Amino acid sequence: MRLAGKIALVTGGSRGIGKAVVQALAQEGAKVAFVYRSNSEAAEQLVSELELDQCEAIALQGDVASKEDADKIVEQVLEKWDKIDILVNNAGIIRDGLLATMSEENWQAVISTNLNSVFNFCQAVTRTMMSARFGRIINMSSIAADVGNPGQANYAASKGGINGFTRCIAAELARRGITVNAVSPGFIETDMTTAVRNAAGDQIKKKIPVRRLGQPQDIANAVLFLASDEAAYITGQILNVDGGLTLGGM
Ligand SMILES: NC(=O)c1ccc[n+]([C@@H]2O[C@H](COP(=O)([O-])OP(=O)(O)OC[C@H]3O[C@@H](n4cnc5c(N)ncnc54)[C@H](OP(=O)(O)O)[C@@H]3O)[C@@H](O)[C@H]2O)c1
Repeated sequence: MRLAGKIALVTGGSRGIGKAVVQALAQEGAKVAFVYRSNSEAAEQLVSELELDQCEAIALQGDVASKEDADKIVEQVLEKWDKIDILVNNAGIIRDGLLATMSEENWQAVISTNLNSVFNFCQAVTRTMMSARFGRIINMSSIAADVGNPGQANYAASKGGINGFTRCIAAELARRGITVNAVSPGFIETDMTTAVRNAAGDQIKKKIPVRRLGQPQDIANAVLFLASDEAAYITGQILNVDGGLTLGGM
C-alpha cells in the first residue's frame, strides 16, 4: 500500500475523473475525503462501494468556488483526521460558447469553479502542510489550456491560470516539503465529454495517436504517481496525459 497512513482531500470526487482518483488513492491505503456539489446519490454510492472494499472515505457537500465552503471543508477533514497530506483539486465545469455571445455568468461560473477553487483549497491546506513539512498538491488542468479551441475561451483561461498558479506556488512551497503539480488530461470518457462524443463519434479517436479515448483510470494513475513518495523530486510540472493528442503529428 503506497499511501498507507496518508490523508487525502479530492474535490469533485463523486463522478468521472475525480471518482477514479478517490478510488485509486483509497485502494493504496489513504483515507479519502471528497467534495461534491449536488449529486449526493453518486457521492453516497461511492462511499458505500469503498466501505465494501475496506477503504475509508467520507463525502462532503460544498461549492468549491466558495472560499467559505473550502475553509469549512478543510476544517472538517482536519477535525476528523488531524492532517491533510494530499490535495487533489479536480472539480471543474464547462460552459462552452463563442466569445461574441458568451454571457458574463458563463465566464464567471467557469473561472470561479475551475480556477478560484484551486486558490481556495490550496490556501486552506497550506498552513497544515507547512507545519507538517509535507504535502502533495495536484491540480487538474487540461490540454485545452495550450490549444485554441473555439468556444472554450473561459475554460482555457481557467486551465491556463491553473498552470501558472501551479508553477508559482510550487516554487513558494518547495522548501517546506510540499510538491505542487498539475495533470493535463486530453479527451477522457466522462459526463463532461458526452455531448462532444455524441456529436463527433469516431472522428475524435482518429486524432489521438494511441487511437482510443482516455479513461478516468488513466488520469488517476498519473495522480497516484504524483501523490506518491516516488514523485518527491517532481514539482511545478504540468503533465499531459492525452494519448499523444498534443504531439501535433499528421
Ligand atoms: N473529461 C475530460 O475529457 C477532461 C479533459 C481535461 C480536463 N478535465 C478536467 O478534469 C476534471 C474532472 O472532469 P470530469 O470529466 O471528471 O467532470 P465530471 O464528470 O463532469 O465531474 C465533475 C465533478 O466535479 C464536481 N463539481 C463540479 N462543480 C463543482 C462545484 N462548484 N463544487 C463542488 N464540486 C463540483 C461534480 O460534483 P457533482 O457530482 O455533485 O455534480 C463532479 O464530482 C475537471 O477539472 C475537468 O476540467 C476533464
